[in-house]
Amino acid sequence: MTPATFSHQPVMFDEVMEVFASIESGIVVDGTLGAGGHSEGLLEQRGDRHVLGLDRDPQAVAAAKTRLARFSGRFFASHREFDEFDLALQEACSYDNGFCGIPVGLLLDLGVSSPQLETAERGFSYRLEGPLDMRMDPTHGQTASEYLDAVSLQELAKLLRDNGESRFAVRIAKAILGARPYRSTSQLAEVVKSAIPAAARRTGGHPATRVFQALRVKVNNELERLESALEKAFTLLPGGRIAVLSYHSGEDSIVKSLFRDQVTGGCTCPPRYGCVCGAEPKARYIVKSKAPSREEIETNPRARSARLRAIEMFRIVVPAGGDADG
Ligand SMILES: C[S@@+](CC[C@H](N)C(=O)[O-])C[C@H]1O[C@@H](n2cnc3c(N)ncnc32)[C@H](O)[C@@H]1O
Repeated sequence: MTPATFSHQPVMFDEVMEVFASIESGIVVDGTLGAGGHSEGLLEQRGDRHVLGLDRDPQAVAAAKTRLARFSGRFFASHREFDEFDLALQEACSYDNGFCGIPVGLLLDLGVSSPQLETAERGFSYRLEGPLDMRMDPTHGQTASEYLDAVSLQELAKLLRDNGESRFAVRIAKAILGARPYRSTSQLAEVVKSAIPAAARRTGGHPATRVFQALRVKVNNELERLESALEKAFTLLPGGRIAVLSYHSGEDSIVKSLFRDQVTGGCTCPPRYGCVCGAEPKARYIVKSKAPSREEIETNPRARSARLRAIEMFRIVVPAGGDADG
């Protein structure tokens, strides 16, 4: 796939643009560049804005650089994990002082891009014959087949259970381990399918869907990276907006719970008494939770499981000689 054919339909584009429409000028970090659709919208939205784009996939970085070349001087792309956005900022600032400063926004559009899913050699799809790889960054790390070669029954069953495969987790895990080693996507898909009782196979989607998703999340440390990026953003974006598009409950429950902690200040008092423990809110909701419209799902089925959440961090004002005030 060349940069010119690397294409992805950005999800909830209008809703994401609305989150960042009214914020002050400055640097917005797009932690998940992909094909650069959201970044392009952010750059077009405000002529006084700089966008720092990150992706762990070098092909995505190359494609976005080509697509966004006309924004030279306002766009900087870096091949990094999104929880390294502070390091990327230092790097961008050393090239261009338009990138020196505190970001006013961070966008994370999680998961994989269409080109990643649709390229057989990347090994993300059970529908396409390819090596069982699944790394978003193919330049390093353990592939899905290497992970399966080493995993224990207990760990694999837990991984499948944690990712929504509650009924047949142990049964599937036993079948997977029994058929090692794995070299191809279709080999794994076939083993998973035959591990499920015939009656259950007739309902729902392909039984390999959840198994492939669980493996992808594990191989790419997706949940750990998400948590660490958000924790960093809470301290490094005072006054800034943080928006996250998630695509499955594992991701969304992390975003929901970390955002709630910021908005409530961690208060756990029963709501009917109000908060009496002295917890101080550190943020407010911009979008508490929003799903795509029916029209969007009809035209872009990949949007169907999307969930948008966004908060705005309070600016911490520290008056000379005084206490911090949210
Ligand atoms: C859904 S796509 C983003 C699409 C993009 N918003 C667009 O408009 O084209 C997700 C992208 O995030 C990248 N990604 C996922 N996890 C990442 C991480 N921890 N660090 C950096 N990039 C990541 C993937 O490689 C993929 O390119």
